[in-house]
Amino acid sequence: MAAKAKTKTVFFCKECGNESAKWMGQCPACHSWNTMVEQEVSASAPKKASARGIGYEAAVPVALSEISLTEEDRVCTGIGELDRVLGGGVVPGSMILVGGDPGIGKSTLLLQACKALSERGQAVLYISGEESLKQIRMRAERLGTFGDGIRLLCETDLTAIGAILKKEKPDIVVIDSIQTMYNEDVTGTPGSVSQVRESTAVLLQLSKTLGISVFIVGHVTKEGTVAGPRILEHMVDTVLYFEGDRHASYRILRGVKNRFGSTNEIGVFEMRGEGLQEVRNPSEYLLNGRPENASGTVTACTMEGTRPLLLEVQALVCQTSFGLPRRQSSGADLNRINLLMAVLEKRLGLHLGSCDAYVNIAGGMRIVEPAVDLAIAMAVVSSFLNVPVNDKLLAFGEVGLSGEVRGVNMVEQRVNEAAKLGYGICVLPKVNAERIGKVKGLRIIAVESVRDAIALIKK
Ligand code: TYD
Ligand code: MG
Repeated sequence: MAAKAKTKTVFFCKECGNESAKWMGQCPACHSWNTMVEQEVSASAPKKASARGIGYEAAVPVALSEISLTEEDRVCTGIGELDRVLGGGVVPGSMILVGGDPGIGKSTLLLQACKALSERGQAVLYISGEESLKQIRMRAERLGTFGDGIRLLCETDLTAIGAILKKEKPDIVVIDSIQTMYNEDVTGTPGSVSQVRESTAVLLQLSKTLGISVFIVGHVTKEGTVAGPRILEHMVDTVLYFEGDRHASYRILRGVKNRFGSTNEIGVFEMRGEGLQEVRNPSEYLLNGRPENASGTVTACTMEGTRPLLLEVQALVCQTSFGLPRRQSSGADLNRINLLMAVLEKRLGLHLGSCDAYVNIAGGMRIVEPAVDLAIAMAVVSSFLNVPVNDKLLAFGEVGLSGEVRGVNMVEQRVNEAAKLGYGICVLPKVNAERIGKVKGLRIIAVESVRDAIALIKK
């Protein structure tokens, strides 16, 4: 009988995977606090997969110009919203990490992607370490009829998975989830930092040498406990985050890293009884249920990648009952709101200092783009004065500290989206107005300062 392998204790950082022999309060690599976790690893230091490099055979240098590239290399999934985030389709031999909270719909999305890819002649292998074959079949029943091109495997041992991949050579593999995978070269329970990191390294090798596209599912918990997939972000080619309120039905797939396309693209889906449905026109979806003739609501336009999104900015401003006014925000940056309110107070002489303010981006979207500043400022003033803003008015522009309205990018797309959705008035920065010609059915109001924009409310 083989002697039990000796183990030693090392510490890993949960955030970046940095390894250390002793515990430290702050990780020296990523400087985050209290992220070091203790872990047993084999003392004989097995040859780590990540140390072996990508290829199995010794690599030979090649001239850069000799490497051929063809556009048709990408495989479209046929799910438009997913293709958009991937940058046009799946690149063979790439690794894609799909992260998100448990229960958000990662398995559903990937099973639907597998269905679509298998219908396009791709050989798909779906490897689950979380659910039984029956459970996957039950989910598949809700999603429609599946062809023969998709095969299922319930396995968590990476050595066995490696052998199957080498034998079957599928085109697409889904690993659901990386937290359940187990590599016997490494000690530690599945889901621990060392296991997750090494398992990904092994999959990366297999993916690059066999030319298989691998989708990896990773759970992120709120506290980032054990090994969140964050440490994998630098190892994979593409990182997608699937987010949304579990209680609301829409879901957003966000690209945060993409070696083969642009990031910041989003795909919008709706979770229905029969799986995820694409939302082709998210603006319409987000503006659904907008109150008419109410004060404190203004439509803004933000860009998500190359796509304009119209959304409703709501504000509620009322006299504070306590000495210290309360400011709260959901979906927008609170510091930005405090700054805008200070600008309105100083430049327009509005007494907002003694008011509570609540700002909400309807639909649960999170916006960081400064282009929503103007809409937030207008919503705050509209609520403060209790005067509704025209329902058919849309505003965008960045507000500076002297109250000036600064230009934003991709103005044409924003204006066209407004016209498409039937808006009648578009308030935008003066510097941008020159480049915009006449748009049918849309009155363009160019403003230089936030004062000009606020004047529109008082009328
Ligand atoms: P799931 O894909 O299992 O989430 P994850 O893999 O991210 O943990 O999906 C979870 C939820 O989606 C579950 O609560 C049920 C719901 N759901 C639907 O509403 N409609 C459907 O067609 C399917 C398959 C799931
Ligand atoms: Mg799942």
